[in-house]
Amino acid sequence: MKIAVIGAGNMGGALVKGWAKAGMAADITASAHTQQTLDRLASACPGIAVTLDNRKAVEGADVVLLAVKPWLIEQVIAEIAPELAGKLVVSVAAGIRNDRIDVYAMPNIAAEFGESMTFVEEAEQADRVASLFERVGQCKVVPQRLMNAGMMMAGCGIAYVMRFLRAMTEGGVEMGFYPDDAKQIAMQTMQGAVTLLHETGLHPEAAIDKVTTPGGITIKGLNELDHAAFNSAVIRCLKAGLQ
Ligand SMILES: NC(=O)c1ccc[n+]([C@@H]2O[C@H](COP(=O)([O-])OP(=O)(O)OC[C@H]3O[C@@H](n4cnc5c(N)ncnc54)[C@H](OP(=O)(O)O)[C@@H]3O)[C@@H](O)[C@H]2O)c1
Repeated sequence: MKIAVIGAGNMGGALVKGWAKAGMAADITASAHTQQTLDRLASACPGIAVTLDNRKAVEGADVVLLAVKPWLIEQVIAEIAPELAGKLVVSVAAGIRNDRIDVYAMPNIAAEFGESMTFVEEAEQADRVASLFERVGQCKVVPQRLMNAGMMMAGCGIAYVMRFLRAMTEGGVEMGFYPDDAKQIAMQTMQGAVTLLHETGLHPEAAIDKVTTPGGITIKGLNELDHAAFNSAVIRCLKAGLQ
């Protein structure tokens, strides 16, 4: 299946790199606004085709993936409209609807490393689109009402997880670790926690019980998080982007 990625920036570029790593380089044509972006992408992904001409990018494609900034979507669709007949048009632009878009998707930039959490909105060709995103991570097909929630948890969620890792790293530095060591400790601890949940299927709260000795020090730290309304802050953060 030939894919044209229109707008190979942070998100489009991550998808191109992820698909290229999954052995799909020869099927991808990417476009951008500047040659510099295309040169960088082409050297990172041998075998892909690149062009500054969106209409040329779309020629011969089966799937056209729109990954420009939301305010450019309408202009780009108008530009490539003559070439779109019979093609499946997918958009990852947040919050923009257009009659010519067949399927809405919301990936995240971990697609570059095969670790995206992507949401695809229920539609006639959603399964076909989901199979593409499954090449770069996990993918869920959901009703429209859950797309924004998915975007907040997984698209924006990367930033929220980074904030937690930053806080843990800074705490480590305050307690005496060098920054690089503190970052490595925070990352490995998070990875360990995620693996534990994967392997055991436990609810996070049940996993917490395993590391919390009655009267011990873990519960003291957990209660400090509660005093600072950590749970509530995270839930409010996720809901802040819902209209
Ligand atoms: N970033 C995320 O984590 C994320 C997650 C989910 C969805 N999205 C969605 O993805 C879209 C892109 O966001 P982004 O963060 O990737 O933005 P970005 O890094 O600015 O990338 C946008 C890309 O579009 C290119 N571009 C600009 N005008 C163009 C045109 N007329 N024709 C073709 N390409 C053009 C730019 O080219 P140059 O590089 O040459 O300027 C750039 O490479 C947005 O709609 C956003 O809602 C982003």
